[in-house]
Amino acid sequence: MNPRYHIAPLVYTPEIIQSLADLLIETVANGGSVSFMHPLEENVAQAFWRSSINAAIAGERVVLGAFDGAKLIGTVTLILNCPPNQPHRAEVAKMMVRVAYRGQGVGRALMHAAEKIALQKGRTLITLDTAEDEGAAGLYEALGFQKVGVIPDFALKPHGGLSGTIIYYKQLAAEVAGE
Ligand SMILES: CC(C)(COP(=O)(O)OP(=O)(O)OC[C@H]1O[C@@H](n2cnc3c(N)ncnc32)[C@H](O)[C@@H]1OP(=O)(O)O)[C@@H](O)C(=O)NCCC(=O)NCCS
Repeated sequence: MNPRYHIAPLVYTPEIIQSLADLLIETVANGGSVSFMHPLEENVAQAFWRSSINAAIAGERVVLGAFDGAKLIGTVTLILNCPPNQPHRAEVAKMMVRVAYRGQGVGRALMHAAEKIALQKGRTLITLDTAEDEGAAGLYEALGFQKVGVIPDFALKPHGGLSGTIIYYKQLAAEVAGE
């Protein structure tokens, strides 16, 4: 990743909520399968991120941002509030990078940061899913995630039409925490 970029946990400010909403709207418009349909209304995107950052404030998740200076260029969420019998697991969601910044290692750096935080919080198992069509399977496989299988016709793509979803997991090695 370009050394001038940096990654930090996101806090609740109107500017951050707006930047996250802009990123989500752009991602959905470009076919990214991140739970929403295109066109995504700004107030819906803002409400999603307000709720997500509030969950982070409550300690139920960590929302990381990648920045180019003050500009938010990517995000990933580490969901921590797993059921009581899965205290060692975290889930990764809402991994997305601004279109203009893709292919520069930002997604990889976000996931490394998420894995480091997961281990610091005692989470040694990460699970996630990604769309079979136009999803991020290549990213997760490049990062050592193991493919479990595919659920066919799981969700609508942002512009319509069904796609399967691929389930992945990764068991974290302790050395990631010390990187
Ligand atoms: C998926 C996404 C986050 C990747 O971000 P990025 O910053 O472009 O990824 P990186 O540059 O860090 O790529 C890291 C590695 O993953 C690979 N990779 C990244 N995205 C890929 C994709 N969609 N398909 C195949 N391989 C991909 C890269 O080739 C790279 O491999 P390398 O390091 O061996 O060259 C970005 O494309 C995106 O925002 N997509 C839309 C939203 C989305 O689908 N999110 C996933 C929801 S589950």
